[in-house]
Amino acid sequence: MTQDSPIVVARVGEVDPGTTKKFMLTVDGRETECFLVNYSGQLFAYVNRCRHVPMTMDWIDNQFLTEDGRYILCATHGAAFEPDSGECVFGPPCGKFLDRVPLTIENDEVLAHRPIEADD
Ligand code: FES
Repeated sequence: MTQDSPIVVARVGEVDPGTTKKFMLTVDGRETECFLVNYSGQLFAYVNRCRHVPMTMDWIDNQFLTEDGRYILCATHGAAFEPDSGECVFGPPCGKFLDRVPLTIENDEVLAHRPIEADD
């Protein structure tokens, strides 16, 4: 596999609504932790790196969502991000966006592409 090639990260239907799944992507030769989130039946993916301090956001492994499943939560300082846009709506990085990982579906497989760095 060449660097930054899209990779299969899940099968369609594997990640249930209200749940998440972590995966690794190679970005510029570096292993980068990312996660899928199924929000209201739609899949989104982001780099697992807060926009406040560049730390992973899940305190317990693969726990990204608030209890009601409404927001992606950063466990360190409690920032809340919109699952469908990655925008922070509460907390220190308010107004900033998570780095999005574009997804495509091919033959029942979910492919992750090179992340798009948020430029806010
Ligand atoms: S590191 Fe995420 S809110 Fe501070």
